Formats: sequence, structure tokens, C-alpha cells
Amino acid sequence: ETIPQVEELLDKMTLEEKIGQLNLLTPGGGVATGSVVSKNVEEKINAGQVGGLFGVSGPERVRVAQELAVNNTRLKIPLLFGSDVIHGYKTTFPIPLGLSSSWDMDLIKKVARISATEATADGINWNFSPMVDIARDPRWGRIAEGAGEDPFLGSAIAKTMVEGYQGEDITDPNTMLACVKHFALYGASEAGRDYHTVDMSRTRMFNQYLPPYKAAIDAGVATVMSSFNDVDGVPASGNKWLLTDLLRERWGFNGMVVSDYTSVNEMIAHGLGDLQQVSALALKAGLDMDMVGEGFLTTLKRSYDEGKVTEPEITNACRRVLEAKHKLGLFEDPYRYLDEKRPKKDILTPENRQSAREIAARSFVLFKNHNQILPLKKDVKIALVGPLADSRNNMLGTWAPTGDTKLAITILEGFKNVVPNAKITYAKGANISNDKELANRVNVFGPRIEIDKKAPEKLLQEAMEAANSADIIVAVVGEATEMSGEAASRTDISIPESQKKMIRELVTTGKPLVLVLMSGRPLTILEEFNMPVSILQVWHPGVEAGNAIADVIFGNYNPSGKLTATWPRNVGQIPIYHSVKNTGRPAPKDKFEKFKSNYLDVENTPLLPFGYGLSYTSFEYSDLVLDKTEIGQNESISATVSLTNVGNYDGEEVVQLYLRDMERSITPPIRELKGFQKVFLKKGESKKVTIKVSAEDLKFYNGNLEFVSEPGDFEVYVGTDSNASLKASFIVK
Ligand code: IFM
Repeated sequence: ETIPQVEELLDKMTLEEKIGQLNLLTPGGGVATGSVVSKNVEEKINAGQVGGLFGVSGPERVRVAQELAVNNTRLKIPLLFGSDVIHGYKTTFPIPLGLSSSWDMDLIKKVARISATEATADGINWNFSPMVDIARDPRWGRIAEGAGEDPFLGSAIAKTMVEGYQGEDITDPNTMLACVKHFALYGASEAGRDYHTVDMSRTRMFNQYLPPYKAAIDAGVATVMSSFNDVDGVPASGNKWLLTDLLRERWGFNGMVVSDYTSVNEMIAHGLGDLQQVSALALKAGLDMDMVGEGFLTTLKRSYDEGKVTEPEITNACRRVLEAKHKLGLFEDPYRYLDEKRPKKDILTPENRQSAREIAARSFVLFKNHNQILPLKKDVKIALVGPLADSRNNMLGTWAPTGDTKLAITILEGFKNVVPNAKITYAKGANISNDKELANRVNVFGPRIEIDKKAPEKLLQEAMEAANSADIIVAVVGEATEMSGEAASRTDISIPESQKKMIRELVTTGKPLVLVLMSGRPLTILEEFNMPVSILQVWHPGVEAGNAIADVIFGNYNPSGKLTATWPRNVGQIPIYHSVKNTGRPAPKDKFEKFKSNYLDVENTPLLPFGYGLSYTSFEYSDLVLDKTEIGQNESISATVSLTNVGNYDGEEVVQLYLRDMERSITPPIRELKGFQKVFLKKGESKKVTIKVSAEDLKFYNGNLEFVSEPGDFEVYVGTDSNASLKASFIVK
């Protein structure tokens, strides 16, 4: 269906004006999100060569740019203003991997709503989020930006975020266009190295990697960003199968596709031709807007003159850019997001900060509670040590270009706020890393790894003095913010040696030791896990980091987060994820056997499975029943389980349902997540929890890529993580 206003405009446009709309530029000035910035942006806007900008914010600055487009170009077409608001705008929430660990769709929607309200108050109307790339390789730094490894949970989160950003009415100036990225399969970069080759079977693609993008499309996402990687040998930005056959024809997407930052130009390095060739390839593949690269701007006219692209192809791309602007109501009022009073009213409000605090606490995952030492009493003598305990620069996490590290609450500050009567002695204890080369690479956006002037021995000595005079030690350790995220892949994903050394020494005191672990990815922590310590995983928690951590450590909130990505025992197990297939020679449980699918040196199971996370209380599962034992192919089934809080605290639990398809035409995973529910139970309380598995959830893509369900036996497992053991069975006729 075409939009008359857009068609009328298209009729008036010259070919050059249409090509002009296809360019997204960034003038730089803020935090860079790519390796080059656009030049002569003002002149290009005046010349009608720009469709949108990113990296410009604040109503005053945005207005200046919008006025150039509206006042100085023949057809007065307004610009789009984009930004990466992936875990909050100014009110920074936990990194997305942390947010996903809440398994709480209401909270995630709230994050998206607050993000949209703050960003639009600052003049932004297009968000480069959600990032929904399935990631099963924690070496890949961008695992921090997504929802982890699972297509079912990832799809639920993708849908929720799109709904949160775009709201119910996209013309409401508190809402913005969402952009699902990075289409597609970016999270499967070989060896976890960023931007690396991706190669996978279509059945894996359709069953495991594509569902979250599709969920975003089905939820009505307005725009899609193509990824840097290749898919079946053709980079996504020039891949017609991906951008047209699958996205538009099979899935029915009719919005706008933007490239990633210079990803059109990067097809030259991929080996697909010169700038003119790759730009024509991208346009013909179905890409509408070229981010920063200017390949469209500088070569499409020539390609048209030489008969290599057609006017309808250029018009189609331009139509989609104009339709995106039309959706926002920019033709009626190009300044509708530019209310100079809004930033003060809407951004970083006390309510938003309070939400950031509550949501951060809900993203933490309790790995171990040795001797049930947590929650700590509020009047204890604490040694608070570790390089991340008072490190304001490392609280926000990766991809927070609009956040402000100066506003972040450190753990030391949070402890002082939450337990003013506790006696706290602080010592840094160690550098995040002693590796100067690593520090140089990580510190691109400011000093994240600060190598202290004091010698490492002196730092350690101070921590030991603090520890020796305290009742309890809390050590805040892990990764600096920029040790994960874009272009931050690691082959060794353990806690850096400088900190490991400190932890080993602290353990020798024999005092209760709580490790507050910060990271943007699953780490290998086998050594620390086997120590007599408690471990709380806090990711990078955002602007309210310290307050949220203190809330959990001192029991104002009982942790309820559950892992959304598997934690391996060692790097050699990677890729590792819960929905593995069985192989023809499954390994026996708990022992090695020759000629079976196992390793000589380590068991197959991870250190911490998908879905794992403890609470200060304990939950007991019993009486799993299904409402039917036999269903038809188009019927749903419901599982009900009794859940009792048998511990000493009120708490929340994420009840998880996994399905095993016992027999099908292509090899099934041993288990797949097919349902979950987060429930709150008072101490001593029991509840019946019912989870419905729809007929759609029983389907999969077969060898012909048809979405089908096949008759046969199914097993249902319900429990606290992906090792859930309560079992029931049913048959699909
Ligand atoms: O949105 C991002 C993308 O995730 C990575 N490259 C740069 C884009 C714009 O900042």
C-alpha cells in the first residue's frame, strides 16, 4: 500500500534528490561509533544529499540541522535523527545481556519506554536498537549487547523492545522508530572475532538464529540494519536473498533497511568489487540507506547512467526512507521532537534513576552463596576491595554513547548510601589488568583500565590490611567496560591475572569472601567458583550500579536473575549453549567413554547452565501435570507445576519449561526453551504455575524450510534452569 503524500513527493523529485535521501551521515563530535566520520555535513544537507543524521542530539542542535534541510533544500524534506540507545539514553540501564537476565518483559518494556522518552526529548526519533543477534560464543565482545543464546527468549525480548520504543502510536512524540539489528547472524562470527565470516546451514539459521529478527518484524519494527558479516558468501548489506527474498518477500517487511556503519564500502574488502559495484549491489539487494559510507551518494548516478541500476530501484529505496519520515509525522511538523523544555522534564528524572536502580538489581545473577553468607547484615565491618569497587568509569558498560560516566554511582558510594552504619574500609587491591597494551586498546573512550602509580604489591598489601581488619570481604572484580562490546573480542575470557592474584590472597584470610563479578560476557571462572566464596554476577549495571549492588548485597532485594548465556568451564568448550543436539554417540553422564562424543580433558557440561541463578530463598518444584496427554498438530498444551518458597525470604523465581521433540525429520535439540514465567512468592507460600505451549511452539523449520510440526512423542521438563528434571510426556498425533 502506497502513501499518497509520499507518492506525490516522489513524483516531484529528481533522480539526484532521490539519491540524496539515501544517505545517513554523522558529523562526529560525540562518542564515535565507527572508524570514520562524515565531512562537510552542513554543505551536504544544503545540497539535498542527506536523508538523516546520527550523533547529533539536544533540541537546539537538532533544530539547527533540521532547519538546514527544511529551509535550504528545494523540497524541504526533513531529516531523520538516529542514535544508539541500546540500554538507556542518559539514564543508563544494565547492558542488554544483563537486562535479559531479568527474564522480565514488563521491566524490559519499561527500559525501552524510558529510553524512548528520554531520547525523543533530546530530539532523536530513530533508535538503532534492539540488537537481537543470537550469541553462543562469549569470546565475541558484542554478546554484551544482546539477549544471549536462546531464540525463544530472544524473540520475546525483541518483540517487547520494539513495542516499548515504538509505543502504540508511533506519531506520539515520546516514541521513536526502532531498528532491529544486525540482520543477520552477526552473533555467529567465526571464533568469536568481531566482523568475521559467518557460515551456517539454513536449518540452523531458521531454527536458531533468525527467530528474534522475525519476532521484531512481526511486532512491526519500522527499520532493519544489515550486518557487517557475510551470509552464504555474500555480505549482508549486498545480500539479495537476505534483504529481499527473506526479509521482504517471505516475512513481509515493508519498512526501511539501513546499512551498518560503512558496511557497503566494506564489501570492497570482502572482495566483491569497487565502490561503484558494491553500492549498486547493495541497492539491488534491497538496502535503502547507506550509513556514513557515501557510496550511494557518489556512485549511484553513474551506475544509473551506465544502466547498472534502474530508476525504480532508486525510487523504491527513497520511498522507504520517505515512508519512515511519514510514519513519524515529520512532514506535518519537522520540529515535533524539538521541544526545548522536554530535556529538563523528561531526562534523568529521579523516577527514571529509581527505575534504573530497581531494574539493575533484577538483572543480577547469584552464582554461589557460600555458607548462606548473603545477604550481609547492615552493621558489619566490611573490607570493600577490588579495582571495580570505586571505578566510576566502568559502571555504564559498553555502548552507552549517550550516557555520562560522571553520573554513575560506584559500589563504594552505594554501600555508604544503603548501609550508613556499616564500617567500610576500601582498598583498590589490584589493577583491572597490569597489561599496558590491553589498557591502551581498551581506553578508547576514556580511562577504563587505570594502571595505578602504586606497585601491584603495594595495592595488594593495602587490600590485605583492609581484609584482615574486617569481618567480611567484598571484592568487586571482573572486566572493564570496554573489555566487551564492539571490536572487543577476547580469546582468554578469564578474570585478568592481576585480579585473580588478589582473589587468591584474599581467600587465604579464611574470612567470608563475596565476589561481585562485573562483565559484559560469560567468563571462565572455574578456579574462583571452586573457592569457598560467594559470587554475585552484576554485568555492567548502569548509572545506579552501586546502589543496586548494595540493595542486593544487603538484602533490600532478593536476587532473581537467570543466565541467558551458558558459562563454559573453559574456552575450549566454546561454542556452548543449552539447546545442543544429541549426536549419534551421546556421551554417558558423568564419565568419559571412548568412541563417544566427549572430551578427554573436560566434561561436556558447562560450569553454569543456561537459565541458572540462585536466590536467597529456595524454591521447590513438584507435581508437574499436563492438561492433555495427546494433542493434534494444531493444538496447544498446558503444563502446571506446584512451586513453593521453602526458604527464609520472599523472592521471585523464573519457572522455565523445556521441550524435547523425540523424533523428527531433522535432528532436534535435546531441549528447547518453550515457555517461562516469573513469579513472586512470599516466604512459605505455594503457587500453581501454568505455562502454555502453543501449537506454533511445537513447530520447527524442516529440511525444506517449511515451518511444520510433526507427529510423535514430546517430553516436557519444568524447573529452575535448563537442567530442569521434573518431567511429563505427551504425544502429537
Ligand atoms: O548501530 C551501530 C551498530 O550497532 C554498529 N556500528 C555503528 C552503528 C551506528 O552507531
